[in-house]
Amino acid sequence: MLNDKTILITGGTGSFGNHFTSYVLQHYKPKKIIIYSRDEFKQFQMRNRLMEYDSIMRYFIGDVRDEARMRRAFEGVDYVIHAAALKQVPACEYNPNEAIKTNIHGAMNVIEAALDTSVKRVVALSTDKAVNPVNLYGGTKLVSDKLFIAANAYSGFKDTRFAIVRYGNVAGSRGSVIPFFHSLVEAGETELPITDLEMTRFWISLEQGVELVIKALAESKGGETFIAKIPSFKITDLAKAILPGCTMKEVGIREGEKLHEVMITKEDSLHTYEYSKHFVIYPHMSWWTEKNAVPGGRPVMRGFEYSSGTNSQWLSVDDLQELLQKVFEL
Ligand SMILES: NC(=O)c1ccc[n+]([C@@H]2O[C@H](COP(=O)([O-])OP(=O)(O)OC[C@H]3O[C@@H](n4cnc5c(N)ncnc54)[C@H](OP(=O)(O)O)[C@@H]3O)[C@@H](O)[C@H]2O)c1
Repeated sequence: MLNDKTILITGGTGSFGNHFTSYVLQHYKPKKIIIYSRDEFKQFQMRNRLMEYDSIMRYFIGDVRDEARMRRAFEGVDYVIHAAALKQVPACEYNPNEAIKTNIHGAMNVIEAALDTSVKRVVALSTDKAVNPVNLYGGTKLVSDKLFIAANAYSGFKDTRFAIVRYGNVAGSRGSVIPFFHSLVEAGETELPITDLEMTRFWISLEQGVELVIKALAESKGGETFIAKIPSFKITDLAKAILPGCTMKEVGIREGEKLHEVMITKEDSLHTYEYSKHFVIYPHMSWWTEKNAVPGGRPVMRGFEYSSGTNSQWLSVDDLQELLQKVFEL
């Protein structure tokens, strides 16, 4: 479905954007892939890495806060993936105005530019932190999600549709617990700090995130939130996998952190369908009807919650060791 299409990725030089671009270049024959981001050096590095695809790749310097620039960049684009964001919890907390400008105003600008230029599909990346948010990053992403869902009502006779893909911390991503534990082990520590011995998280790889975005592009009829079915792990098992025999010190949960990740709330359960490999939360909007649901799913039980703490799939210490090897091969 991406063959002969023009795809634009806001934040295309980030972890997701790099992985998505490589995946699409390997599996499809797109007409053009446009990377839209601010820093010329990251674009230079990406261009060097993908030199063999230079005839397909375009690198636009631009800010998602700049609507006019985005409208120009979106001309002739079929699909937009909106990945640009400020996403470090402490940075957003300390610089709330900047988080609002990039994550909320940026989302509004993506919507306006996509509608004005008749983009066919927009998929915006969301996070578990947008679910019952306890920090500003999550708060801004919640607003962004709501904007994208509501935008489906404005497309009128145009075929522009907006959907969301939500996932939690990507295994090994910058600032996450895996590189943190690794840096401690490399520094010779034998004791690892654990925020809470009960803490759990979901495990998702960048590849799974990319595949879900492609599924959303293919299946979205507008307003859906796509969520992958993925396993959970205990933070204590991750510590054992990274440093077998380590001692652990409980240091207390940090500001803006949750004990368990939640991807679907009990309230969402009323609008959620389960599929073999993922869930979809359908919009709770007057314009949505059940005939828009992707075939092959069934409604989840009322009161169902998709939380890393009560998941049915779990990774053992051995599973984690195997997966960690793959993360560090990348
Ligand atoms: N990584 C995770 O664990 C995770 C988990 C759940 C959800 N997500 C979501 O997935 C998306 C992508 O995350 P990621 O890990 O790829 O992030 P990342 O590696 O930090 O990349 C962010 C990208 O956004 C660009 N960017 C930042 N501010 C921008 C602006 N104002 N205008 C244009 N581009 C801007 C950055 O490039 P420049 O600085 O050059 O502009 C960079 O290309 C985000 O929406 C994030 O909320 C990530």
